[in-house]
Amino acid sequence: MKRVGIVGTGSYLPETVLSNFDLEKILDTNDEWITTRTGIRERRVAGKDEAASDLAKRASEKALADAGIAAEEIELIVMATVTPDTQCPAGANWLEAKLGAVNAVSFDVTAACTGFIFALSIAEQYIKNGIYRNALVVASEIMTRTLDWTNRETCILWGDGSGAAVIAEVGDGHRILSTHIHTDGASGDNLLLPGGGSKTTPISFESVEKKLHNLDMIGANQSVKVAVRRFAEACEEALLHNDLTLDDVKVIIPHQANIRILQGVAKRLNCSMDKLYLTIEKYGNISSATVPIALDEAVRDGTIQPGDLVLLTAFGGGLTWGSSLIRW
Ligand code: UT7
Repeated sequence: MKRVGIVGTGSYLPETVLSNFDLEKILDTNDEWITTRTGIRERRVAGKDEAASDLAKRASEKALADAGIAAEEIELIVMATVTPDTQCPAGANWLEAKLGAVNAVSFDVTAACTGFIFALSIAEQYIKNGIYRNALVVASEIMTRTLDWTNRETCILWGDGSGAAVIAEVGDGHRILSTHIHTDGASGDNLLLPGGGSKTTPISFESVEKKLHNLDMIGANQSVKVAVRRFAEACEEALLHNDLTLDDVKVIIPHQANIRILQGVAKRLNCSMDKLYLTIEKYGNISSATVPIALDEAVRDGTIQPGDLVLLTAFGGGLTWGSSLIRW
């Protein structure tokens, strides 16, 4: 088995900022409620002409530059998204064309907020087994296009953005120690985006009126306790597998849906909130892109240093959850 490491990271956030104060103008809500109940102060919104692959291109170019690898050298592109440009072809294919990654095979992975860890796990196997030498793993989401902007319990939570990592065969040191992924399909109704699926097509006036093309979070809002448990289990599984403890970990990069979920995770893991790298205040929940964006920012601001142990973890619709432990 080859050793696999992250050799470059990048991220891109659209310029437009939508603050809680902006939301006060269109919804019966207020900054105080959103901040105390979720930890979110603002989020980013993609431009009208931007699709998921456009955000992904910006993040990927930074990751490739960071890795010192040209787009034509990339052999595999795995894109995590629940908001691809089109149902067919995959968002990754549009990205491949936009990057000029002419030698790469590309496909999408759908695992909601855990998407980046699923994509990382898949790409890692190809390199471990010697099939490809490198891969671009990217998560890109335009969640704001899925929202019902009259539903104050849902639309306040989400934002847009993209994060990317280049992974490659490496020598000693810096490497992915493990990835673990899990699914509970029986609870799939908890976080639902029916629109566009074969159950909801053809799109009709009725399906639009019933808001079947908008994100439905009723179950997700009720399953905050499940989220806390699954996050904690995913972290414990990674540590147990590698015979390490949380004290060995420099920073946890979690998916960020609600600050209260993360406070619950920290309590359950018996660790300080300082161990968790947070971006929720400025970006909200960007589904699969949350983890790689936070990872890139933690690398850029020096939180992550060579030799550090970094724990990625996520939980989301599907249900899906997982973790990845990385020696930086
Ligand atoms: O990736 C994991 C997926 N899971 C998630 O993302 C979970 C997301 N869910 C959450 O973060 C929380 O469930 C919410 C933030 C959406 C709601 O927080 P909560 O503390 O569970 O509030 P609640 O639903 O119990 O609502 C409390 C009150 C209600 O009013 P009444 O019935 O007490 O009069 C709501 O109508 O707050 C009201 N409310 C709001 N008020 C102002 C709900 N949303 C808002 C809002 N602004 N945006």
